[in-house]
Amino acid sequence: MQTEQNRAAQIQVDAFSSGQISSKLWLCEQLENAIQQMNLKNPVLWILGGWYGLSAFLLLSRAKIGVQHVRSFDIDPRCESTADMINENWVWKNWQFKAFTADCRILNYQEYGPPPQVVINTSTEHMGDTRWWDLIPPGTLVALQSCDMDHADHCFLTENLESFAKLFPLAKILFQGEKEFVYPEWKFRRFMRIGLK
Ligand SMILES: C[S@@+](CC[C@H](N)C(=O)[O-])C[C@H]1O[C@@H](n2cnc3c(N)ncnc32)[C@H](O)[C@@H]1O
Repeated sequence: MQTEQNRAAQIQVDAFSSGQISSKLWLCEQLENAIQQMNLKNPVLWILGGWYGLSAFLLLSRAKIGVQHVRSFDIDPRCESTADMINENWVWKNWQFKAFTADCRILNYQEYGPPPQVVINTSTEHMGDTRWWDLIPPGTLVALQSCDMDHADHCFLTENLESFAKLFPLAKILFQGEKEFVYPEWKFRRFMRIGLK
C-alpha cells in the first residue's frame, strides 16, 4: 500500500516530469510573446494553483520579460515552503517571488498588494469549478492550460480546445493551441489559451 509519504514524494517527482516541464516551457514561450505584444512593462504576475512554483522559476530564470513580482497561490499548505525554496533567488529580493496558501475560488484580488496584470492557471483540470475564473478582473491578460489526461486528481478535464474556449471565453485571443505528448504506453493532449479576459 502506498503511504502518504510515498505519495507526496511521487507528486514532487511528477512536478519535474517531461510532460510538466515541456508544458511550462510552452507556457513561457507563448506568454512572453503575448506580454511583448501587449507592451506590458514589468507586470504583476499571479499564478493560480502554482504548486511548487516551477512556472515562476522558469519564467524568472528565462528573464525574457521584466516582472514587478510574482505571487503563487495554492490550496495545499505543503506547496508554500517548497515553492519558496525553489524560488529563493527571488524570495529574498524583497519578495520578487512569494508563494501563499490560498483557495483561488475565494481569492481576494485586493489583499496581496497591487492587483495582477497577468494571471496564469495551468492547473484548471484540478479545480472543480470556474469560481476562480469569475474572480479575475475583466481586461486581465490570462494564460490557461488544461488537458485530456484521465487521472484520479483531474476533476475538470477538457475534451478539446473548443470546449476549453467555451468554458473560459476571452475578449481578445493572443494564442491558442494544443500539444500532444506521446509516450511508449500512453499519450495525452494539453490545451492552452492566452488572451484578455
Ligand atoms: C498537480 S498541480 C499542477 C498541475 C498542472 N498541470 C501544472 O503543472 O500547473 C495542481 C495544483 O492545483 C492546486 N489546486 C487545486 N485546487 C485549488 C484551488 N481551489 N486553489 C488553489 N490551488 C488549487 C493543487 O493543490 C495542486 O498543487
